[in-house]
Amino acid sequence: MRMKNKYRKSTPFGCNAGSRCSLSFVVWGLVGCVLLLHLYSLISHGDKLEGSREFHLNHFQLTRELEETQDEGFQIPPPRGKRSPRAAKRRPKRPTTLIEEFLDENSQFRHLFFPDQGTAIDPMMEAGNDSLHFYPGSMWLDTDGNPIQAHGEGFCMLRNWGCTTGTEKTRMVPHTMLTKKELHGGLTHLSVTELKIKVDIIGVSCYSSKDLWTWKNEGVVLAGEETDLTHDLYKLNVLERPKVIYNDKTGKYVMWMHIDDTNYTKASVGVAVSDYPIGPFDYLYSKQPHGFDSRDMTIFKDDDGVAYLIYSSDDNSELHIGPLTDDYLDVTRVMNRVLVGQHREAPALFKYERTYYMITSGCTGWSPNEAHAHAAESVMGPWETMGNPCIGGNKVSRDTTFFAQSTYVLPLPMLHGLYIFMADRWNPAALNDSRYVWLPMTVKGAADKPLDYNFGFPLWPRVSIFWHKRWKLPNGWNG
Ligand code: DGJ
Repeated sequence: MRMKNKYRKSTPFGCNAGSRCSLSFVVWGLVGCVLLLHLYSLISHGDKLEGSREFHLNHFQLTRELEETQDEGFQIPPPRGKRSPRAAKRRPKRPTTLIEEFLDENSQFRHLFFPDQGTAIDPMMEAGNDSLHFYPGSMWLDTDGNPIQAHGEGFCMLRNWGCTTGTEKTRMVPHTMLTKKELHGGLTHLSVTELKIKVDIIGVSCYSSKDLWTWKNEGVVLAGEETDLTHDLYKLNVLERPKVIYNDKTGKYVMWMHIDDTNYTKASVGVAVSDYPIGPFDYLYSKQPHGFDSRDMTIFKDDDGVAYLIYSSDDNSELHIGPLTDDYLDVTRVMNRVLVGQHREAPALFKYERTYYMITSGCTGWSPNEAHAHAAESVMGPWETMGNPCIGGNKVSRDTTFFAQSTYVLPLPMLHGLYIFMADRWNPAALNDSRYVWLPMTVKGAADKPLDYNFGFPLWPRVSIFWHKRWKLPNGWNG
């Protein structure tokens, strides 16, 4: 028989004083906290989705097609029959995986990844039903009929037209191919010092357009240096990922770019300035920002006019982010390390409502790998990783960012929540024949990967990049 303890007090919750009661309080307290957090997250998530819901209602018809993913594409037929041992001896077995086919410049499936000139987008030709349609990975001609050369590009939106600047890679210098193993980087980390592929610095080229489809070549707006070996832009050095923003205070266009030497050991940023978006740009100087190595980079101008430099640092193991000076010509002393130990590069930043987003790639040289989407409440971080934003295609293409690497995200202000994701499909064997992969991207719906510090509840909407073999912007995207 159990004796009733007269010293044991009953609480309103029906528990007894002492350790069991406090344990129960702690448990219920925790449950309450988690529920409150969940409620808060749902409310703030709801707030954030309010705008996107509005967008959804207003633009549902316009964007619906873009969110219907396409599954087909990048299919290679299985090898035909068995090879005789003699044939196997004569010729080594041909690569069989999609990624190996992509990296093999002699692959019979090359046309899947690098369609030939016959299928080029040519805005000057009578395009009929194809008018204004993007074909990711296809050759893209400018208004003079030449392939557009704006790799690692950025975009500068002007009143009713825009300018894109990227690196001109038409003149190739002999290069050493990476070994199969290096090229096959797949999802492994490849140190930048191992890279042997490069092209001469020809310069930064600029194209202008009113419809984002027809591009006029405005020429090389920052030229490489032919003779002065000590110049940052000397032709044997490296210039990558130029990005231009407008400074409202000074009325100048400021270009930031990755500057390096042949072996990628200088690891610096360069700065140039112009009175016009179409140049010419005056090259000012290069430096290692905040005293750190800097390779892939981008700049981001926030709504309040403050601009930031974001760069891969500490041998690409982390990103650094810090505000620029008021004139955008230098960095300030403020800098935060973000995504530490995650080995990300090719950052492309954008803002949706009050949240900052970033798409990055892994570090595998010119070989494609999986993109990640990240989000942050403050541009200075902390940044959370939300996972792979790619939808459609097939698993290999999703795991390789549709065989491409992020360079820029272009907001379409008239279509709130819809963006163009811009990426380079690098052709390591002929960098000048690298292609552009532009795809529709949305920010909406619940994130599919729970985030660590939010007790497993999604805090931000999902970033989705939709694969399309052929697509066009909805009517009304530009007002
Ligand atoms: C990957 C980077 O994202 C590119 O900008 C370029 O630096 C290549 N590596 C060089 O291999």
